[in-house]
Amino acid sequence: MKTKFTPLHRFLHWTIAVAMTVLYGTGFLRMYWLNKHKMVDIIASKTQALPKEEMTEIAKAIRAPMWEWHVSFAYVMVFAFLVRIIYMIAKGIKFPSLFNSKLPMKERLQGSIYLFFYVFVFVSMFTGVSLKQGFFPEMKDSIETVHKLGIYWFPIFILLHIAGILIAEYTNKKGISSEMISGKESDLK
Ligand code: HEM
Ligand code: HEM
Repeated sequence: MKTKFTPLHRFLHWTIAVAMTVLYGTGFLRMYWLNKHKMVDIIASKTQALPKEEMTEIAKAIRAPMWEWHVSFAYVMVFAFLVRIIYMIAKGIKFPSLFNSKLPMKERLQGSIYLFFYVFVFVSMFTGVSLKQGFFPEMKDSIETVHKLGIYWFPIFILLHIAGILIAEYTNKKGISSEMISGKESDLK
């Protein structure tokens, strides 16, 4: 059996998949369910005994362990992204090019979805690192707004990706999901 996706390619794919899921989950929790203003409102509705600053400190302390995961997985994501780019340069792109007019439209569309992913990941990384390191302080609010767009672009990518894989599985690339898991080309072909 031939190997379509090398062990490194599969390792990078699944590392990126796990890291992005954790980054999205923790970003979502910080913005919504564990939003510090919402937590302060809840604490304030239960007690009048504390000043607002202390309530904010409590809220931040509650979400701190969760937030450490965003920062840790940001390192994982930066590492996986850089290795993926080096691997792409060394071994060829491994997904269809949007700009190759000889390829069928379906494959160019698929390539454009992956390009969309890597461009947006780059923007998220750049803005995330800028927030952490305090780069461009005069533009902090805009950088934060752009970074938080992740709440929209990532689910759009996932829906397109899952739809693309389902279409591939049901048409000309049966078993492509197991190839991304085990690396073995399917016997179904
Ligand atoms: C949860 C987050 C996920 C992310 C962020 C993600 C990301 C990506 C990206 C960027 C590619 C382009 C090629 C590459 O760079 O390796 C890709 C390809 C692929 N992914 Fe995912 N993926 C995710 C989940 C999944 C799941 C759940 C499956 C399968 C059950 C899957 C199966 C595949 C397959 C089969 C390809 C290769 C498609 C082809 O070459 O035609 N991915 N994925
Ligand atoms: C490539 C992916 C990503 C990387 C590398 C990344 C990295 C970072 C870093 C380093 C910070 C600054 C942490 C700090 O100051 O302590 C941050 C903040 C943040 N990230 Fe991400 N992140 C990514 C994706 C996402 C996604 C998908 C979301 C989902 C909404 C998200 C939501 C947030 C939020 C809400 C903040 C706090 C902004 C603020 O209030 O200052 N991030 N991110």
